[in-house]
Amino acid sequence: MSTQIIRPARTLQGSLTVPGDKSISHRYAMLAGLAEGTTRLANFSTGADPHSSLACMQGLGATVVKSGSGPAASIEVTGTSGSFRQPTAPLDCGNSGSTMRMLSGLIAPHPHTFTLIGDHSLTLRPMERIRKPLGQMGAKMDLVDGHAPITIHGGPLQAIDFTTPIPSAQVKTAVLFAGLQAEGTTSLSESIRTRDHSEHALRAFGATLNRVGDKLSIAGGQRLKAIDATVPGDISSAAFFLCAALLYPDSNLVLDSIGMNPTRAALLDIITALGGRIKVLNVEEHHGELIGSIQVNCGAPASSAPFIISGALTAQVIDELPVLAAIAPFTANGMVIRDAQELRVKESDRIALVARNLRAMGAQLTEHSDGLEIPGNQQLHGATINSGTDHRIAMAFSIAALRAAGDTEIDGAEAASISFPEFFTSLDTLAQR
Ligand code: S3P
Repeated sequence: MSTQIIRPARTLQGSLTVPGDKSISHRYAMLAGLAEGTTRLANFSTGADPHSSLACMQGLGATVVKSGSGPAASIEVTGTSGSFRQPTAPLDCGNSGSTMRMLSGLIAPHPHTFTLIGDHSLTLRPMERIRKPLGQMGAKMDLVDGHAPITIHGGPLQAIDFTTPIPSAQVKTAVLFAGLQAEGTTSLSESIRTRDHSEHALRAFGATLNRVGDKLSIAGGQRLKAIDATVPGDISSAAFFLCAALLYPDSNLVLDSIGMNPTRAALLDIITALGGRIKVLNVEEHHGELIGSIQVNCGAPASSAPFIISGALTAQVIDELPVLAAIAPFTANGMVIRDAQELRVKESDRIALVARNLRAMGAQLTEHSDGLEIPGNQQLHGATINSGTDHRIAMAFSIAALRAAGDTEIDGAEAASISFPEFFTSLDTLAQR
């Protein structure tokens, strides 16, 4: 386990290009593996998770060629033209819930036996949520007490009409990926709308997908064609620095080419409400995804009440909640986070770990089963932080550490490489000491 010492900073200044979006990278990797032809991807995520998806695609018969490094890196995936092969070894999803859940839907219609495994954290995460809809479609899946390892006895699937009981883009995607290859037209409704990268990615690869009101439908038997694409920068990685910019009145941050898909961009509204001044420098669209550059400075919060994140907003910023909570004690009015019980079944129990680590830094707060109430205007001190080997906890507390009195030690800091291997280097460049 590696440790990083984070020293307090005077301010945050500079510009940054964050690595490619993790969610979009997974989807492009998987659809490229199923498609016919060679997909060329620029700015693919450097995080370990989407590389787990790529490795699984290789296990299923796709060819993956990685070339170059840094911003010039590119990935070519030659797909299997709709026919995955029988893997000769278990498909290792590493730490990645996205890989395990979305891949299950993608492979279940294929006539092979698949075993999906993952690391300790992934083995603790709920998988019944994908067995239910895929089982209704006719997939035979064995779980161990609702968890991985998963065995899928693949075969022909039938379309279903499904309503997602919990807001989950991963479950939605598993159903859409299975529906794409099922017999009949699958439809799906979401109680709360989640990120729509799968919808855009499916269309980019040539599938037809309809939305009427809040109901999506996809006809089975569609073939995909390879694409050339550039993955937008990951707004969830940018979130760490957006939150850091709120900590200093004279901060100035420019973020280049970040994904601004409206189903992910609610974070920008929260940053504005907490006092950030955001200038959008330009926006373009690629394969249905918005990519923009923004400049962020720090101003005054919009209201004098605690900022409340609940209901649909919670689902929209689910991955950014750890860093929002970690900076909450430094905000003028504090923060209330509710309806976030899903945070307890992420890579770690993020509610418990945020509460424990904030308390270690001297913060006052109240923990609820579905969230946290964190008063503002607090002063924190450096402490030893337990990342719980969760990437977002390691990075969130590195940001809180910038404004603490004294040094902070992040134990298990290497977890950051799951989504953002360059995080600590970027932090050193932007944090002015
Ligand atoms: C993701 C969806 C979210 C999110 C995860 C990535 C995706 O999970 O927390 O980091 O790429 O679809 P759920 O779908 O489980 O909410």
